[in-house]
Amino acid sequence: MNFLTEKLLHGGDYNPEQWLDRPDILEDDIRMLKDAHCNTVTLGVFSWSTLEPEEGVYQFQWLEDIINRLYENGIHTVLATPSGARPKWLADKYPEVLRVDAGRRRQLFGGRHNHCLTSPVYREKVHMIDRKLAEKFGSHPGVILWHISNELSGECHCPLCQEAFRNWVKERYGTVENLNRHWSTTFWSHTYQSFDQVESPSPIGEGALHGLNLDWNRFVTEQTCEFIKNEVQALREGGSALPVTTNLMYYFDQLNYFRIAKEIDVVSWDTYPTWGKKPLRATASDNAMCHDLMRSLKKKPFIQMESCTTSTNWQKVSKLKMPGLLRTQSMQAIAHGGEGAMYFQIRQSQGASEKFHGAVIDHYGGEDTRVFREVIQTGEMLDHLSELAGTETKSKAAILYDWENHWAMEDSQGPRNAGLPRKSLMLKIYRSIRCLGLNVDFVDEEGDLSDYKVFVISMGYMFKDGFAEKVRRFTENGGILLVTFWSGIVDGTDRCYLGGTPGGLMDVLGLRSTEIDGLFDWEENEITDPEDFTVDPVTLEKEQTGVLDSGTGLSGTFSCKNLCELAALSGAQPVKVYGKNFYKGCPAVTVHPYGSGKAWYVGTDAEEKFFNRLMKKIMQDALKEELSEYPDSMEVTSRENESFIYRIYQNYDEEESLAFPVNAKEEVVFGCAGTVPPLGIMVTKERKL
Ligand code: GLA
Ligand code: ZN
Repeated sequence: MNFLTEKLLHGGDYNPEQWLDRPDILEDDIRMLKDAHCNTVTLGVFSWSTLEPEEGVYQFQWLEDIINRLYENGIHTVLATPSGARPKWLADKYPEVLRVDAGRRRQLFGGRHNHCLTSPVYREKVHMIDRKLAEKFGSHPGVILWHISNELSGECHCPLCQEAFRNWVKERYGTVENLNRHWSTTFWSHTYQSFDQVESPSPIGEGALHGLNLDWNRFVTEQTCEFIKNEVQALREGGSALPVTTNLMYYFDQLNYFRIAKEIDVVSWDTYPTWGKKPLRATASDNAMCHDLMRSLKKKPFIQMESCTTSTNWQKVSKLKMPGLLRTQSMQAIAHGGEGAMYFQIRQSQGASEKFHGAVIDHYGGEDTRVFREVIQTGEMLDHLSELAGTETKSKAAILYDWENHWAMEDSQGPRNAGLPRKSLMLKIYRSIRCLGLNVDFVDEEGDLSDYKVFVISMGYMFKDGFAEKVRRFTENGGILLVTFWSGIVDGTDRCYLGGTPGGLMDVLGLRSTEIDGLFDWEENEITDPEDFTVDPVTLEKEQTGVLDSGTGLSGTFSCKNLCELAALSGAQPVKVYGKNFYKGCPAVTVHPYGSGKAWYVGTDAEEKFFNRLMKKIMQDALKEELSEYPDSMEVTSRENESFIYRIYQNYDEEESLAFPVNAKEEVVFGCAGTVPPLGIMVTKERKL
């Protein structure tokens, strides 16, 4: 059962404050929400100026009336704190709440998501209204969850934030000598004499100290966590024990979401895939990976807090969602461990910047619209599948996803400033495991590996303290490790490892990476089968090697691009070698037994077909069973509870119906058994032994 209600959540962001002078519309909304099988709305996200029109004057009656009316009609409320956008009076009276950009310009009033992260005044004003909201609604039976702020993002470079940053740096490094060492400040003579000289990075100032840039990013996450903590504390002081969430965003690079997740009880996120830009399957797997990442943040079910019923107003091209796609997209959230599929927004605003954003109810206002019918279908499906609420997702494979690693890798110059294949490579590996019908988790370097049989480090450029050791133990104890090129290059302050890389894992992998070649966009190389020799990248001379037997299933030639790393072997067996260039014959893919496990190495951005074969081999080896691949456009996931395992099959092929083999023990609980039409869904259930 769902930890919030007994159902999968269906509904979305609702802004009745825009319609308080139209009680007829508010009544229509309730009727239509019920007709659309909506059981939950999010209220109050941008309501501050209606809730506190003047400083210290709180007007909550309208909100109370609406929460009550909704509750009487079986609709729950996710209640937001209003800190995502401030009233004008607040900015006018206390300019310190306005954000200062990296160029040191203070912003004017306007927009949203743009408060100073540190300002004591802003925190106090937020604290006061949050506390009052909690006192009033924190135990209301209709309210199920707090929604802290909205899509937290951005940074502030004001004097208050500079001061807080200096204190944070001082706390972290203790002495200025230690700071200088870790940030490599003798480079270009940027040595600090005291902590008072430390400033945030700026386009008109310091930008070349990678350690500083990295630590600034860490600090921004910490300040954001402090901001969230202040809000949670206000809610608790107001007497509410309800769980809290904050809505996260699609592969949002700026904040370390594993860290943010520690401050909240439930992860939720907002998804707006650009369906139609690429083949459906490609968009689907990109969105799927983000769902899995979100679930992994707390290793718990999450909520899809926002999505669009049809086209957004902010994408380059506003494509309508083709019939059936809304239901499939909503099911995808559930399939990956979601407890609800919600929308932005219930009713379209009449004016201002989002007036053309898709909604459940449009400006016309009736139920006889194509979109409304699609929402009904989605609601019916979620109602029908409420037994999925509260079931868990179990995975045997995990991929490293570490925000600090990404920050450092993207900031550092070389080996390919024209673009690193960081995400595309991860997606290939992810898809290669997923197409076997297996779930995948993500962990950061602080994460626990003990639940997994396979662990993948895809471009793990930065190995923080203790990480290599943990990975070594994982392999030693029987885990199968896969490490790609550009891994283990620097430590946790972005200083290069001396004495060879991947730092701390050379003996586990049985090799040392020696050089890395950046390829132009138009260039390709290939990986092919080694003969009974490989070429040593240091001497470029042929060496006799014990080549892996042909039973690997990896034979053949595969293309590769972007980056080709060269590796000198010290025990690893070559599985593939480069086919071209002066390093033709040098090892590109290797395997090395270590302890009771195995360590694979892939030195280049190989084509997906290669990863399909490799991951199948690795997963079969780890699970000790034969696995078969599903068609590329089919997505198969599973969720389970003590008694049952549920399998969700989705067809992302635009034209073809796909046959899904259902075994005799599987009962079909949704959709048509066996053959699933384009955008169709089938859900089955099997009793566990
Ligand atoms: C974000 C915000 C919403 C709305 C939507 C529009 O997700 O949280 O308030 O602006 O984008 O797509
Ligand atoms: Zn600030």
